[in-house]
Amino acid sequence: MFAIILGTRPEIIKMSPIIRSCEKDGIDYFMLHTGQHYSYEMDRVFFEDLRLPNPRYNLDVGSKSHAEQTGAIMAGIEKILVKEKPEIVLVQGDTNTVLAGALAASKCYVRGARSLPVEVGHIEAGLRSFDRTMPEEINRVIADHISDYCFAPTEIAQNNLLHEGIAHKKIFVTGNTIVDAVHQNLALSKDSKKPGIGSELKEKGYFLVTLHRQENVDNKERLEGIFGALGRIQTLTGLPIIFPVHPRTEKMIRSFRLHSEEIKMIPPQGFLEFLQLEANARLILTDSGGVQEESCILGVPCVTIRESTERPETVDVGANRIAGVNPENIVSTTLAMLKKSPSWINPFGDGKAADRIVSILTE
Ligand code: UD1
Ligand code: UDP
Repeated sequence: MFAIILGTRPEIIKMSPIIRSCEKDGIDYFMLHTGQHYSYEMDRVFFEDLRLPNPRYNLDVGSKSHAEQTGAIMAGIEKILVKEKPEIVLVQGDTNTVLAGALAASKCYVRGARSLPVEVGHIEAGLRSFDRTMPEEINRVIADHISDYCFAPTEIAQNNLLHEGIAHKKIFVTGNTIVDAVHQNLALSKDSKKPGIGSELKEKGYFLVTLHRQENVDNKERLEGIFGALGRIQTLTGLPIIFPVHPRTEKMIRSFRLHSEEIKMIPPQGFLEFLQLEANARLILTDSGGVQEESCILGVPCVTIRESTERPETVDVGANRIAGVNPENIVSTTLAMLKKSPSWINPFGDGKAADRIVSILTE
């Protein structure tokens, strides 16, 4: 039996092809939601959009400090593993849910009558920004080192793991399940434009923005600088800037009392609406990991508002440029990227990553 652990927006989206694959092959699994994300538009909407069954468990941990959240998830997961005795625990990505899930499972000896260790599979293993100030980098490194199966999306990710001494036999290059999720939902998303958001925007006639990284949005000066750059881009190009605002960012915008006439801020979107917003954008500016991948898969140029990326494949194929957080650099990188014709090859696989992962585990 597989235990599929998820807790945040990107994990629900990127685990959805694994769940579909388990359902298709009649594999015994259960889903455990940690409750790290809980607002309707960060959680439930994705179960509806992606037509996923309800998780068997929800720990409802909610928002807490890093240590409190990680600890609460570990304690909750351990109890459920002892009860359910799964053979394999699957985690995906780089959140506190992943760290806690992998840590709790790696110390659990509850599998079967002889109490063998539970095995851990990390999906999207081997990504590295090489920036240890990011909480996500700590989560990735630890999860990879305590996993029995590292499902690396690309050769670059595999090489990162090999350089850190992780045994070759534990690593499987599978592609990224985000390609599966985009392929499975893009056609469906074309019918799903919510009136008032997608419909008033001209195809390739707007910028799409997302921002939620702790190091960007929790820092007043930095967030103000990014807002200034976005305003300048709007003035220089005359194109609207559409910004679905993550709740963390919304909270910080309110507390810093930031305003912008040039940026159209809207609530976080469901996956189907957001896919349409991405596919039809002229260019995407983001600090999200998943959005860097999706823009590359969908053939939309991307500017990353960070100093580093753990998705260098997007830069190597010419789909993405790292602008840093200096406002002038964000503007000049955007203007340069607007000249780019989207003719790159998607480096994240063929859309069969989930089937590959499930068959490796069942074999
Ligand atoms: C988390 C992940 C990040 C991932 C992101 C995906 C960690 C350390 N961070 O960041 O890697 O990229 O999810 O979106 O695991 N909030 C709500 N409703 C929600 C969830 C959050 O209002 O459903 C607000 C709360 O004020 C909360 C804040 O957002 O304090 C931050 O949430 P949290 O889960 O701690 O981190 P994210 O920034 O969402
Ligand atoms: N996303 C969404 N609605 C939004 C913004 C993002 O559905 O309003 C999806 C997006 O398509 C991607 C995922 O959320 O698959 C990325 O999540 P996020 O940026 O929160 O986290 P990260 O990928 O950086 O961990």
